Amino acid sequence: MSNPPSVLFVCLGNICRSPLAEAALRDAAHTHSVPIDVDSAGTGNWHVGEPPDRRAQAVARANGCDIAGLRGRQVQREDFYRFDHVIALDHDNLRNLEAMRPEGSPASLSLLLDHVPGRRGEAVADPYFGDAGGFDETWSDVTQGAQAILRTLAQRS
Ligand code: 4NP
Repeated sequence: MSNPPSVLFVCLGNICRSPLAEAALRDAAHTHSVPIDVDSAGTGNWHVGEPPDRRAQAVARANGCDIAGLRGRQVQREDFYRFDHVIALDHDNLRNLEAMRPEGSPASLSLLLDHVPGRRGEAVADPYFGDAGGFDETWSDVTQGAQAILRTLAQRS
């Protein structure tokens, strides 16, 4: 494992769920003084170079995180060598990552909520086509995931 450990969160557009997961883990790691490299990406390319969705920015801000400076990017094959943990937000993205993952690459691949006791196999629902309330649910899910990942990584370091 690299030092510090590195985590890449992946959703579809990289403008809603994975930037929020990135912010939640970075914030929790900072609070607990655990060094972790965190980034996010999308399997799709529609929002490359764009800031997070304004509803995602709003829920992050309401929870003390500024994500306005993040920009969308598409996941690359090299990411499976750059990151220790590549973590998908839902099953479609996990399947796409499994398909593109270079054989023998070292990254572990998982679903975010697999890390949360009692929530194994659950997806973080896509809030993009819903209302603002969906983003509160996203924040709750990614916060649970981030805290569980932090606990695991802090035990290993
Ligand atoms: P995300 O949400 O995968 O959580 O960033 C989406 C963002 C954009 C689209 C779909 C989901 N889209 O279809 O453009």
